[in-house]
Amino acid sequence: MVSLFPTQDEQMLELAQLRYELHEHNYRYYVLDDPKITDAEYDGLLRRLNDLEAQLGLPIPKDSPTQTVGAPLSQAFTACEHGEPMLSLANAFDSDEVLAFDKRIADILGDESYEYIVEPKIDGLAVNLRYEAGVLVSAATRGDGRVGENVTDNIRSISDIPWRLRALNNLPDVLEVRGEVYMSKPAFEQLNQAQQAAGDKLFANPRNAAAGSLRQLDAKVSASRKLSFFAYGVGLGGRGWVSSQTKLFERLYSLGFAVQNYTLFSNIQDVLVYYDKFLKQRASLSYEVDGLVFKLNNFELQEQIGYVARSPRWAIAHKFPAEEVETTVDEIIWQVGRTGVITPVAVMQPVLVAGVMVSRATLHNINELARKDVRQGDTVIVRRAGDVIPEVVRVVNADAEQRALAVTIPSHCPECASLLVQEEGEAAIRCSGGLSCPAQLKERLSHFVSRNGMDIEGLGEKLIARLVDEGLLHTMADLYELDWSSLSQWQGMGEKKIANLQQAIEQSKSCSLPHFIFALGIRHVGQATARALAETFGTWQAVSGADEEALLRINDVGTEVASSVRTFFAEQHNMDVLQRLHASGVQPETMVIKKQDAGHPLVGKTVVLTGSFVSLKRSDAQNKLRDLGAKVSGSVSKKTDYVVAGEQAGSKLEKAKQLDVSIVDEQQLLMWLQSAESDIDAA
Ligand code: IVH
Repeated sequence: MVSLFPTQDEQMLELAQLRYELHEHNYRYYVLDDPKITDAEYDGLLRRLNDLEAQLGLPIPKDSPTQTVGAPLSQAFTACEHGEPMLSLANAFDSDEVLAFDKRIADILGDESYEYIVEPKIDGLAVNLRYEAGVLVSAATRGDGRVGENVTDNIRSISDIPWRLRALNNLPDVLEVRGEVYMSKPAFEQLNQAQQAAGDKLFANPRNAAAGSLRQLDAKVSASRKLSFFAYGVGLGGRGWVSSQTKLFERLYSLGFAVQNYTLFSNIQDVLVYYDKFLKQRASLSYEVDGLVFKLNNFELQEQIGYVARSPRWAIAHKFPAEEVETTVDEIIWQVGRTGVITPVAVMQPVLVAGVMVSRATLHNINELARKDVRQGDTVIVRRAGDVIPEVVRVVNADAEQRALAVTIPSHCPECASLLVQEEGEAAIRCSGGLSCPAQLKERLSHFVSRNGMDIEGLGEKLIARLVDEGLLHTMADLYELDWSSLSQWQGMGEKKIANLQQAIEQSKSCSLPHFIFALGIRHVGQATARALAETFGTWQAVSGADEEALLRINDVGTEVASSVRTFFAEQHNMDVLQRLHASGVQPETMVIKKQDAGHPLVGKTVVLTGSFVSLKRSDAQNKLRDLGAKVSGSVSKKTDYVVAGEQAGSKLEKAKQLDVSIVDEQQLLMWLQSAESDIDAA
C-alpha cells in the first residue's frame, strides 16, 4: 500500500537522492559545461530539497547543494580526515625478503593453511572515497595517512568511480573505498603532446601527471585529463563486511568499481615464480606498475597477523628492480640543500630512465663520491627506482689513463663562499653560512611554504628565488610583512596573482600545528615527528620549552631528534623568527594533548568490539581505544585479549567463549575510556 504521508525514512531517502542529483547537475553545469536539465527544472529540485531540509530539521551538511548553489565547486583542497588511517606497504627488494615475510606469517599461523593474492602495484596515488548511504560524499588524497586533501570535485570526473554505488543491499551507512588514481600510458602520452604543443611544462611520468591533474584547482582542467582508478581496499565500514580480498574485489566490482586482475597462490614459491614471469611482461600493461603486492587473502588471518607501525604485516610490495641506463658525465657540481648540506651532483648527457628524462644524478656525499670515484667525462650507470632521486651506480669506463683528474672537494660554499664544515662522524659537509647563504634560505623557504608545511599555493621556487635575490626575503617571518602591492611591476605578477598569493598567505596563518612544526624545517623532524610533537605538547611554545627527557618520552623520538629539536629552539635567531611570526598573526591551532597512559590496562592489548552500544558509536569507541594504545581487531582469535560485547552480539561472542577470551560489557568499556580521559584532563 502506498502511503500519502511519507514516513521520515522515505523523506530521508528522497533527501539523499536529491542531494546526489543536484551535485551531479552542478557538476555537469559548472565543470562539464553540459547541463542535462533546464534551469527551471534545476530550481524545482533545489526548492524541494530546501523544503525537505526545513521539514526534517536535521543538521545540514556544509556541502549540501542548498549551501553551495551558484558557487563553483572547487573546494581548494581543504583538509579531510580519513575515517580510518590509510596504511602503506612494507617493501621487499629481493626474494629473500619475501621468504622472510612468508616465514613470519607461517610461524604465527602454525598448521593453518593460507593463500596469497597477488595484485600489480599501481604507480599512482592513493585516495579514500567516502560513501554515505551509497552516495559519494567526499574523496581525499592519502596525505599523512590520517588527514589528506579533499579532492572530491576532481574525482567526480573519473569514470571508474561511481557517484552512487550500484548495489545497496548489505551496505554499511558509511563506507570508505580505497584505491589508486592513475594515468594510463596512452593518456599520459596524449597529455604530454598537448602540453608540448601549448608550450607548457611536460610531466616527468604518469604518476606525476596523475598527481598534478588531481590537484588542479580548476575541476574543469582536472576533468579534461584522463584519469583512471582501481579499487583495492576498504576503510571505515569495511570491517567484517566480506571475508577475503578476492571476495572484496568481487564486491567492489559489483558496486561499480574497476578492479585489477589478480591471481591466487597457495605457497610462496609459486608467488615468486609468478613474479619473475610478470617482471618480463610488465611493459605490456597499459598502465605503470612498480611491483607486485602479495596479501594474505583471508581477512581473519590478516587480523591474526596484525600490523607494525603504519603497515600491515600480512602484505608486502615486491618492488621491481630499478632500471639501469648508461650515459656520460659532463661535470660534477656542488648543490646546497636546506640544512646547508653540500651534495655532489653529476650533470650528465640526458637519458631516459624508467620513463623519465634524467640529466642530473646525486652522488650523495664525499665518501660516496670517493668510493665510486666518478669523474668528469666518465661513462656511468644511472638508475632511478620509483620516487627516488636518480643516482650514479658505478663508473663503467675501462681506460684509466684517459680519465680526468679526481674531483677536488671544495672548502667554501659555492653559493655564498662561507667556510664548509664537516661534523665528526658525519659524511656530509655543510655550509656554515646559515640563513645568510641565499641557497639555504631559498630551500628553507620552499620547504616552509610547501604543501605539507604552511601550504602557501602560488609561491613557487622561482618566485622565492627572486624575492631572496632582490633582498626582500631574509627569513620566513618576512613573508608575512611583505608589501606585495609593490611587486605588481614584476613580470608575471598580475593583480590576480598577487591577490591569490596574499589570500594564501593569510590563510596559512591558521594552519594546523603539525604542519607548522614541519614547516620550520628542524633537522630530522619529518611529518610524523612533527605530528607526534604537536600531539604531545599542544603548542609550539610548549615544544620550544620541552626538555630532553620530555622529548625522549615520545615514541620514535631518539636522542638525535631530541637534540636537534632542542638546538633549534635554543638558537636566538630561530626564536626571534617565531616571535615575529606570532606577532604577524601566525597562530597554528592549539591541539588537544593526547596522552598515552603507559599504565593503562589496554596498552598493547588486542580488543574486539561486537554488537551495538547504547552510549557511543562503535567507530568512536574504536578510535578512542586506539588512541589509548589498544589494537582494535575485527575478528576474534587466540590472540584477542578482550571482547567487548554490546547488545545483540553474535558469532564473535560465541567464538570468544569457545577460545576462552575475556568478555567484558559496555560498562567496562566506558570505565576504561573514562579512566583514560581523566588522565588526560589531569595532564
Ligand atoms: S594495498 C594496507 N594494493 O602502494 C595496504 N596498495 O606502498 C594498503 N598501491 O599507499 C595498500 N597498488 O597507494 C595496495 N594493489 C595495491 C596497490 C597499492 C598500489 C599503493 C597504495 C599504497 C602504496 C603502499
